[in-house]
Amino acid sequence: MKQTAKEFMSSISVDNMLYDEEIIASKAHARMLKQNKLISAEECDQMIKGLDEVLADIEAGKVEFKVEYDDIHGCVEQLLEEKIGAVARKLNRGRSVNDQVVTDTRLFLRAENESITGSLRELMDTLEALAKEHVNTIMPGYSHLQRAQPITLAYHMLAYYQMFRRDLKRFENCMESINVMPPDCGALAGTVYDTDRKKMAKELGFDGILPNAMDAVADRDFGMEFINDCSITMMHLSRFCEDLILWSSVEFGFIEIDDEFTTGSRVLPQKKNLDVAELIRGKTGRVYGDMINLLTVFKGLPMSYNRDMQEDKYAMLDAAHTVEACLTLFVEMIKSMKINRGEMQRAAKYGYMNATELAEYLMEKGVETEKIGDIISKVVQYAINNNKPIEELWLDDLKQFTQVFDSDVYDKVAIRNVIASKVSDGSTSFENVEKQIEEIAKNK
Ligand code: ARG
Repeated sequence: MKQTAKEFMSSISVDNMLYDEEIIASKAHARMLKQNKLISAEECDQMIKGLDEVLADIEAGKVEFKVEYDDIHGCVEQLLEEKIGAVARKLNRGRSVNDQVVTDTRLFLRAENESITGSLRELMDTLEALAKEHVNTIMPGYSHLQRAQPITLAYHMLAYYQMFRRDLKRFENCMESINVMPPDCGALAGTVYDTDRKKMAKELGFDGILPNAMDAVADRDFGMEFINDCSITMMHLSRFCEDLILWSSVEFGFIEIDDEFTTGSRVLPQKKNLDVAELIRGKTGRVYGDMINLLTVFKGLPMSYNRDMQEDKYAMLDAAHTVEACLTLFVEMIKSMKINRGEMQRAAKYGYMNATELAEYLMEKGVETEKIGDIISKVVQYAINNNKPIEELWLDDLKQFTQVFDSDVYDKVAIRNVIASKVSDGSTSFENVEKQIEEIAKNK
């Protein structure tokens, strides 16, 4: 697509989404100028009224974000001047576009961050509810995608809960980096006006102002931290989606995802594709891309502001909106999910995961270690050939392999008992899972 230089330089197509932030920050700046006697009370009133009118026009769809404005800062400035005349220019006392853009971006990311933490909390609540509902739903726990040890679905949900809990913490910590405001920076060295940004920061809900104006205009590491947190959350969602995709395949048959989140195939009517889950998995790549995008834009920049930095908004906006959309849909999707307890239980039984307990049994009965491996593999092979789980073999069947087997073996290999026997902290035992659920409730 051919572009003029003006079109090429303009960022209005993306930063028009910052109109609200631009106007809120401009109003706060006007009030601060008044308080510090840098403009009159009347001028301040004119500015505030004018800015409110600009906001109303934008919200009513009356404003066309033209390339000629260059960016949202130029746009609001020009629209305000059209409303209140030359006095509009006094609003720029003590501030610069370089600090306006970063103030707006910080306000924007603060709101995005809050909305993401809200969605993460909802996801965690959903997982907690699923865990409570499925403390007795037995399933195989996988390692290398092989059935490894029996667990409960509650335990599996709680594992994801912990991942998202850490994500939440990361976003909360990131707020510390986001929620500080630049001082009046001028281009980079500060201004001759005796402004008071500390007061303004308070009004805008910032925790304070940055200590160095040059750093304030030059740096976007709060954005990088944010996208990093987005990337980790997407990675967690993507893994979860992969589990859901596997679980809903005919091969697993563990769950059914509501039609709203899937598509069918006209040619292959038996297929139910988990498009939403696949797209979340796919969009993870996009968010990682945003991360690399932002880091790369900044890596060679000399101090301080450079126009390259304008590219930052594409990455931040894309990452924020992608994570939010994915989290929201993911929560709805798992809320609608039907769990096939029977299939999960069946997979646990036919996973022969209690072979370990069978070996332990023989050890406890004093069978020589060297012989145990051979006996167990023969029992498992026999069970597979007869299409039975270990715990459903007759005692006579077992005795073919060693007379040591007795009726107490059934207690040892019962899947529920295998799960219950895991006494270590953080394990899958029913007792431990209850404890984990209690701990979650306590720490909310
Ligand atoms: N559109 C620019 C950006 O997004 C605004 C800052 C430009 N600075 C300037 N002094 N013109 O980064």
